[in-house]
Amino acid sequence: MQTLTVGLAERSYPIYIGSDLLACAELLLPHLPSKKAAVVTNTTVAPLYLEPLRTMLQAHGVDIIPVILPDGEQYKNAETLGLIYDALLSHRCERTTPLIALGGGVIGDMTGYAAATYLRGVPFIQIPTTLLAQVDSSVGGKTGINHPLGKNMIGAFYQPQVVLADITTLNTLTDQELRAGIAEVIKYGLIRDLPFFEWLEKNMEKLLARDADALQYAIARSCQNKAEVVAADERENGERALLNLGHTFGHAIETGMGYGAWLHGEAVAAGTIMAADLSCRLGWLNKEDVNRIQSLFQRADLPIVAPDLGVEKYLQLMGLDKKVVGGKIRFVLLKSIGNAVICGNVEPELLLQTLVANSAHG
Ligand code: NAD
Ligand code: GLY
Repeated sequence: MQTLTVGLAERSYPIYIGSDLLACAELLLPHLPSKKAAVVTNTTVAPLYLEPLRTMLQAHGVDIIPVILPDGEQYKNAETLGLIYDALLSHRCERTTPLIALGGGVIGDMTGYAAATYLRGVPFIQIPTTLLAQVDSSVGGKTGINHPLGKNMIGAFYQPQVVLADITTLNTLTDQELRAGIAEVIKYGLIRDLPFFEWLEKNMEKLLARDADALQYAIARSCQNKAEVVAADERENGERALLNLGHTFGHAIETGMGYGAWLHGEAVAAGTIMAADLSCRLGWLNKEDVNRIQSLFQRADLPIVAPDLGVEKYLQLMGLDKKVVGGKIRFVLLKSIGNAVICGNVEPELLLQTLVANSAHG
């Protein structure tokens, strides 16, 4: 097992990464202030991992209140959030009752927001069970829900007490979901870690085959990168925005196609190719770099062409992205592989060229 730390002074917390961690009571118990905990999960994850978690906690005198939500990005909304509050209130959960998120990024984001707001804040624990959640969404404290007009538009920064990333849970993930997580792994190499990008070029097949050592390495290296960025800029006043590489385009794809139609990681993959293309048009990346990036995403069987929403629709949807400041779209672009920058003054003509060249009909 590896232990990393997100360094945020009195709100610092450990990330544990390893196999069979769901059975390791000693990792969770120090973070449970009461003998009762609410476990928020969904209809897919509950049959797989709720009982092992319940058994482990009950053996140490902790009773759980299961809150089982419908599964899917389309349920990451205010109505489903209300179901969490309903369960907490009807079971008379108190300020000391922790909320444990057991699932992927959708469950993690919604549970975190419920924890931030129920009784003005209760303890929060992340047990991420998708690759995407283990390398990205469970770390850093971004929580929230979608609005019909924009993704993740309602939310709060609220850090967990601990992140328990049990690699064994990834064995039941579909190949498509595993690949979606790999998109966020590639992101770290692109924005700030060229040696990791090169490692991914050498080890992509091992990751796709779920080689435990390769997964452990990729998850830990991703979390290390994320922890460093979050520790330096928790509230996204600067550097943290780099973690949104591909997301300005990606969020437009997700919202424009309807939540759940494209997986988040798939939209990020196609969005990252758009960002690389735009970086090339600005004269930063060369063609070989763009091809190298495309080739890594393709080897992971991720989409490199975005859906044709129409240029107008893309522009409208991107105008709603949270990274917009003073009406100008701020893009995360690449100076080179391993070196991302924020750019707020992209010429509209270049953006139009990127949108037209990288989206397909159908
Ligand atoms: P998800 O939560 O929808 O999970 C994907 C699918 O896998 C779901 O059907 C889920 O039920 C299933 N699943 C989860 N664990 C499983 C397991 N071990 N075995 C089998 N099936 C399993 O999607 P995701 O990709 O984990 O997360 C995407 C969400 O995360 C998006 O809403 C995105 O906005 C958010 N996100 C948040 C942050 C952040 O910093 N907070 C970062 C990146 C993404
Ligand atoms: N996934 C982007 C962030 O956590 O900032």
